[in-house]
Amino acid sequence: MLCLNTLTEKLTIVMEFSMHSRFLLRSLGTSLATCGLALTLVCGPAPASLAANPAYESTPQGAKAEQFVDHLLGQMTLEEKLGQMSQIPLNQQWDVSPDERILKGQVGSFLFITDAKEINRLQHLAVEHGPNHIPLIFGFDVIHGFRTIYPIPLALAASWDPADVERTQSMAAREASAVGVNWTFAPMVDIARDARWGRILEGAGEDPYLGSRMAEAQVRGFQGATIGSPDHILACVKHFAGYGAAEGGRDYDSVEISDNELWNVYLPPFKAAVDAGAGSVMSAYMDLNGVPATGNTFLLRDVLRDKWKFDGFVVSDWDSVLNLTTHGFASGPEDAAARAANAGVDMEMTSHVMRDHLADAVKKGLVKESTIDEAVRRILMMKYRLGLFQHPYVDLARVNEEEGSAAQHEASKVAAERTAVLLRNENNLLPLAKSVKSIAVIGPLADSKPDTMGSWSLAGDTAATVTVLQGIRNRFGSTATITSTKGVEIERGQPSIFDSQFPSPDPELKTDAEREAEFNHAIDLVKQADVSVLVLGEAQNMSGERASRLSLTLPGKQEQLLEAAVATGKPVVLVLLNARPLNITWASTHVPAILDAWYPGTEGGNAVAALLAGDANPGGKLPVTWPRSVGQVPIFYAHNLTQIPNDRDAMYWDGLSAPLYPFGYGLSYTSFRLSNLKVSAPSVKSGGSLKVSVDVANVGSVAGDEVVQLYTHQRSGSASRPARELKGFERVSVKPGEQRTVTLTLNTKDLGFWSEATHRWSIEPGMFDLWIGTDSTAKDHAIFTVLP
Ligand code: NOJ
Repeated sequence: MLCLNTLTEKLTIVMEFSMHSRFLLRSLGTSLATCGLALTLVCGPAPASLAANPAYESTPQGAKAEQFVDHLLGQMTLEEKLGQMSQIPLNQQWDVSPDERILKGQVGSFLFITDAKEINRLQHLAVEHGPNHIPLIFGFDVIHGFRTIYPIPLALAASWDPADVERTQSMAAREASAVGVNWTFAPMVDIARDARWGRILEGAGEDPYLGSRMAEAQVRGFQGATIGSPDHILACVKHFAGYGAAEGGRDYDSVEISDNELWNVYLPPFKAAVDAGAGSVMSAYMDLNGVPATGNTFLLRDVLRDKWKFDGFVVSDWDSVLNLTTHGFASGPEDAAARAANAGVDMEMTSHVMRDHLADAVKKGLVKESTIDEAVRRILMMKYRLGLFQHPYVDLARVNEEEGSAAQHEASKVAAERTAVLLRNENNLLPLAKSVKSIAVIGPLADSKPDTMGSWSLAGDTAATVTVLQGIRNRFGSTATITSTKGVEIERGQPSIFDSQFPSPDPELKTDAEREAEFNHAIDLVKQADVSVLVLGEAQNMSGERASRLSLTLPGKQEQLLEAAVATGKPVVLVLLNARPLNITWASTHVPAILDAWYPGTEGGNAVAALLAGDANPGGKLPVTWPRSVGQVPIFYAHNLTQIPNDRDAMYWDGLSAPLYPFGYGLSYTSFRLSNLKVSAPSVKSGGSLKVSVDVANVGSVAGDEVVQLYTHQRSGSASRPARELKGFERVSVKPGEQRTVTLTLNTKDLGFWSEATHRWSIEPGMFDLWIGTDSTAKDHAIFTVLP
């Protein structure tokens, strides 16, 4: 039984094919005059009245689906259409309750609701009692896991294994879909070359080729084989486009990039994600070359729709439609709404100027109703493809089965092991010798659960997270004495926008005397232990959104702690928990072993302990060039040549310009030898491909993974091309004493580029260098020619 409060609503057809039954509610388009109308839901086969929708079938597909959506659209008022274009957050101060918005048809999507029962309740309201019975779509930032947290996306890229990354995001989708979240705002595919920018953690780093492979893998992981695959969710590629090039690394700041950079560096991962079938795209916050991305017709229509044939829908970023006025672009809310809609935004996140002003804008002729129809059609079609019309509700029994399952924990541990990067290992300090009888685990991050998870863990299970200290206790506790203390505390200078939802621990030491005593206590523990593991880096709220930095040093007194620990003469292992390259220039020559664990997630501590013990062997590689000093940023390997290319490392008079660690770098507990580089032919026709092979021998004593990397350089052309560009890679596992031949396919289509001289994308014939190796300084060289 149902009581309708809004009595003048026109009721239309609803179809629901629930998991257990199919029923139809149909009421005629009657204007109701009095309160208290009761409707009875009728269960049973679809009645003849459904023939009113010519597209009706129990599971309409293809053209039928389009007819179904068109028919539905034909039933909707303009206001109801605008409702579909509106997304409301859970944590907004409601002026009108969500229930009322649903009953009035004023909302198409919610974000940040993660309670399965509440999702079901709202969905029942929408499907059974909303004016057009259209299911809601529930969005959430499933960035690197949901309840079970996986390594941050920058770390996932450090695996250099798209299959791993696909698996990880598919596990995350499984857990999120169990509560009824059907849409993630991921992957973020923004290229980032400036470590000051806090959001570098959410992407795959600096390189468009690696970034593209990671973008595709994540889309496949979230969405499965097709949109609507069971236990998967809709992906949202963000932030379209150029956000990572924020001036000075300052979050939200304007972006000025040339066409050359836009087409060759920043857009390729978006294109790859769209080609992989991503169903939605998020428009970015910032001005791109003077035009805000959310009102940018060039980006949203010319590139995304016309050139790339994207057929999903575009959602704005948080408030970014309203913010077209803040940017000094739109003259007011109505202008902002009209310009966003005309530019190609289909759904507005959180601000509601489209919902509130587009009807007037249509009346005034500022926006065509057909533009609104297009937007709503895309949204409905995506809801349809997701299966929401057929299966709108969550099976509550799945929640407990999936959340934090053993399989999720195991996958989280494996992912953390495979993403860690070994940066230094003098005299094979790692793995720790079996004779180690005491370990001091020191540092402000050693036993902090949030700082093991990393930012964007808003629904994460903090209690279930294993810190590095706990992991070391679990792994070594029966054979060694484990001592631990923080040594120093660290704190973000200003509050983070996420502190209320996901804080890092507050400092506990109040006075200088207490702080000094703690520091000295830590050094005493170092002196007493056979080996110390210093867990240093940044608290998780020091990176992420609105978390840009002026310097890249280890915050607080961590550097002093590290130096004092090393000064004891005892062996020290530095484990970094971080989301960006940090200044570890001193450590790189003084600390014998450095393991970059990033923010490794729920099972991070167990994974780090397994790596320290040698149960797992690090095989990750840096997806970013690691600077020596903040003065070097932006820094990346794929720079163009200059007139003094041989002086590349000495371009500043007051210090080196060479990075501390190159892009693609990472060590292992074993050693590999590459030999026998072969290119299948000296030349290849444009459009064709070459096979490039190399033998990889494990010449050490333990099994390990190596990432074979292929770089090219176009020697001449209509424009200068970068000195090196990644064009292929493969991560391989090789047993000790074993040799494997790795064969990479070099597609000439990947040699194409957008030329500033010709203003087109083409593969230019000519001579190319090719290098193969284990990082971006690869030495094994060959040449080949691309023929017209
Ligand atoms: C703003 C962020 O820029 C975006 O990446 C995120 O998806 C939304 N907030 C929703 O949380």
